[in-house]
Amino acid sequence: MEIDEQNAPALEAATTFAELGLAPPILRALEEMGYSIPTPIQKQAIPLVVMGRDLMAQAQTGTGKTAAFSLPLLQKMLPHANTSASPARHPVRALVLAPTRELALQVHESVLAYSRHLPLRSTVVFGGVDMRPQEAALKAGVEILVATPGRLLDHAGSRSVQLSQVQFLVLDEADRMLDMGFLPDLKRILDLLPSQRQTLLFSATFDDSIVGLARSFLRNPLKVEVARKNTAAESVEQVVHKVREDDKLEALVRVVKTRDIAQALVFTRTKLAADRLGRRLQRRGVQAAIIHGDKAQVERLSALEGFKQGKVQLLVATDIAARGIDIVELPCVFNYELPYSPEDYVHRIGRTGRAGASGLAVSLVAPEEDRLLAGIERFIKRDLKAVPLPESAPRPRTRADAPGHPGSLAAPRSLTRRRQEPVCALLLPPLRDDAPGHPDPGKDA
Ligand SMILES: Nc1ncnc2c1ncn2[C@@H]1O[C@H](COP(=O)(O)OP(=O)(O)OP(=O)(O)O)[C@@H](O)[C@H]1O
Ligand SMILES: [Mg+2]
Repeated sequence: MEIDEQNAPALEAATTFAELGLAPPILRALEEMGYSIPTPIQKQAIPLVVMGRDLMAQAQTGTGKTAAFSLPLLQKMLPHANTSASPARHPVRALVLAPTRELALQVHESVLAYSRHLPLRSTVVFGGVDMRPQEAALKAGVEILVATPGRLLDHAGSRSVQLSQVQFLVLDEADRMLDMGFLPDLKRILDLLPSQRQTLLFSATFDDSIVGLARSFLRNPLKVEVARKNTAAESVEQVVHKVREDDKLEALVRVVKTRDIAQALVFTRTKLAADRLGRRLQRRGVQAAIIHGDKAQVERLSALEGFKQGKVQLLVATDIAARGIDIVELPCVFNYELPYSPEDYVHRIGRTGRAGASGLAVSLVAPEEDRLLAGIERFIKRDLKAVPLPESAPRPRTRADAPGHPGSLAAPRSLTRRRQEPVCALLLPPLRDDAPGHPDPGKDA
């Protein structure tokens, strides 16, 4: 752990969640979820948050940052837990902001799971779906609110939510929330919050350029860093193949086949490129789905759900799916096109190799992308030496060619066992195009 100029007490000795001082109902929920030992960021952040400190916390992708902020937040909420039906007894006390709708939903699912034995209320609000069920949930009163910024401002504007009693603010993917796309909305939200509050910033990446800005939102913060800066988990194997732009589709198919990749998330830079690649794969008979910010929210969610449940082999995505999304045991990520920002590379490849599992990240790099690759290498402080594409030697027809084999890239099959993710009830109402149209900067973030 690296702690800024201010040294926090040595708290790393704790090896169990109980030793971190969490209350029995939280411990019970963790046990039921199969969390036996805290991850390094959890060991370090939980006691500091319980002590009331502001934090700027950085830890690799897939290492449990969500629980690192949610668990101590629940612990601090305990004195306010009550079963009263009166909305006045359930003001919003904790606000968690996330850059995309899918991530807000996922973080809320985690909060729900961790708080399942506590009389604390929570909900999630994000754009692209009907506001009315969200309004009803807010008006009934919740202690914990997870939100994307645009939709939160819509609710604040229509007075369906009051933020004057917020004591905790969490920015998940904080460096993204502080960049130019989100900053104006974030500032408007901060104006609605009390200045006396605890603020927590979490991300796998913090570029030096935003540290100063981040500090201006924090009071006497501690900086917690687990492992080397700006890295995905060590469990992600990173491979680079140099491929001409026109040969990328064949290269993608070849790598999937020769490495027997059951499922992969395939990133492009633009929505247009995602659509084009997705369609080309579908025409070849591959079970491919597409997710990007111009898709209706219902389509975005069903693409992600289908992928999580193993019904889709390749999910072609823009960077909308790069941050925070947790797909249990996803074996592989492709950079079909390298991202413009090196941070996005770290987040993209961090969709695999999570929670200690191993993962493979394959980047298909055209000559015109060499400069992007060099920028990524500088950012992650590591050389990514290109290796030749795997040989696709003709082989005798085997069971592996049968439709549905992981490497077959052909017919339907339920690919791997996946945890069934609950779908949030708030998503079920039909979409309305006339919903108040606050631009959601997370739309394609
Ligand atoms: N202590 C734990 N024991 C076992 N599994 C855990 C533990 N903490 C978290 N997990 C699991 O690890 C996975 C990754 O957690 P999480 O999504 O919080 O990672 P993250 O650090 O926020 O990653 P990212 O930077 O990509 O957002 C989740 O499936 C989560 O349920
Ligand atoms: Mg996260």
